[in-house]
Amino acid sequence: MTRCYLDNAATSWPKPEGVLTAMDRYHFELGVAAGRGATRAASEVDTTIARCRQRAAQHFNAESSDRMVFTFNGTDSLNVAIHGCLRPGDHVIASSLEHNSVLRPLSELRRRFGIETTLVEPESNGRVEPAKIRDSLRPKTKLIALLHASNVTGIVQPIDDVGAIARDAGAFMLVDAAQTAGHLPIDVRNSPIDLLACPGHKGLLGPLGTGLLYLRSGIEQHVASFRQGGTGSLSEDDRQPDRLPDKYESGNHNAPGLFGLEAAMEWLEQQDIAELHAHELKLRRYLMDGISSSKSVRLFAADLPDELVVGVLSFVVDGFDPQEMAAILDQDFQIQVRAGLHCAPGAHRSLGTLEAGGTIRISFGPTTTVEDVDRLMDALRQF
Ligand SMILES: Cc1ncc(COP(=O)(O)O)c(C=O)c1O
Repeated sequence: MTRCYLDNAATSWPKPEGVLTAMDRYHFELGVAAGRGATRAASEVDTTIARCRQRAAQHFNAESSDRMVFTFNGTDSLNVAIHGCLRPGDHVIASSLEHNSVLRPLSELRRRFGIETTLVEPESNGRVEPAKIRDSLRPKTKLIALLHASNVTGIVQPIDDVGAIARDAGAFMLVDAAQTAGHLPIDVRNSPIDLLACPGHKGLLGPLGTGLLYLRSGIEQHVASFRQGGTGSLSEDDRQPDRLPDKYESGNHNAPGLFGLEAAMEWLEQQDIAELHAHELKLRRYLMDGISSSKSVRLFAADLPDELVVGVLSFVVDGFDPQEMAAILDQDFQIQVRAGLHCAPGAHRSLGTLEAGGTIRISFGPTTTVEDVDRLMDALRQF
């Protein structure tokens, strides 16, 4: 039996073949650090990494490539942004749907520096109401953090409306695009987004160990460096360079990962993101239609229009612990899904699934097929 992979929201698989070829080339033929040498191999590594940055800037329509900072995953990008911009006394607004990669830095900063956070609950349709964000503003609100789409339900959040509220209030808008980068078109230059964090290894189809943080022009003056160290530039100075991207990129790059990400972004450039999204939504709807009549299955976010969701779907099967069901699907059917709380306890609290161990989550990618979904549905029919 071949593997049926339905956990692209965790990390995408398979990657485009060019990703593997590019990483092999790095490992077998180059194998040197980036930005640190004058050899021909080092210069090829530098050029490829610069091209990766350029592709990332083009993908998100950033003002320039130096505004795209490389990190090691989505969590790292969020930490660079959150720790960098908050100071003692600041207030933050976020939604209760956020991933722990937002909630935990905020709770750490509350314990360390007394930074206060207001978590806004979603409405019964799973969407955060912008007016509630506005009502939560305080004179000391420095940051509004909102995930672009929930990693539990796939519901898309009104980031533009919330960003406009942030702008009016003089607060920074941080968008966690972990579940939308590569799935939905994102135009940072024409949206009220100050900071955009995403992994390179999910919808952007790069390897694990890659992530991106976009910083709007000028915002770097308000975002301190999260970690300091060697940048291969201004080495005689004991202070972290101010210029981008060096300010936020200390230590050796994940050069093989960035070779892979560069190839992934090249592959994405040849695709129509809207078509990839439509493909994932078609599969989501096919799965929903196929299992919604089953009395033992309870689906979440099943009645939202396509514009308000990405290719992520959660459900529970009566009488089965989600982890137990995921283990059966894997062991007996070679179907890989994700079960549990998905590092987003607040999302499960609002669905009412926190106490019972969360949900089973299915998430699609560009190469997921109708046959994959049929296989899952055949397996579920046996319960
Ligand atoms: C909404 C959301 N934010 C942040 C993250 C963290 O991304 P990473 O796993 O790359 O650290 C995830 C990962 O699942 C996510 O779904």
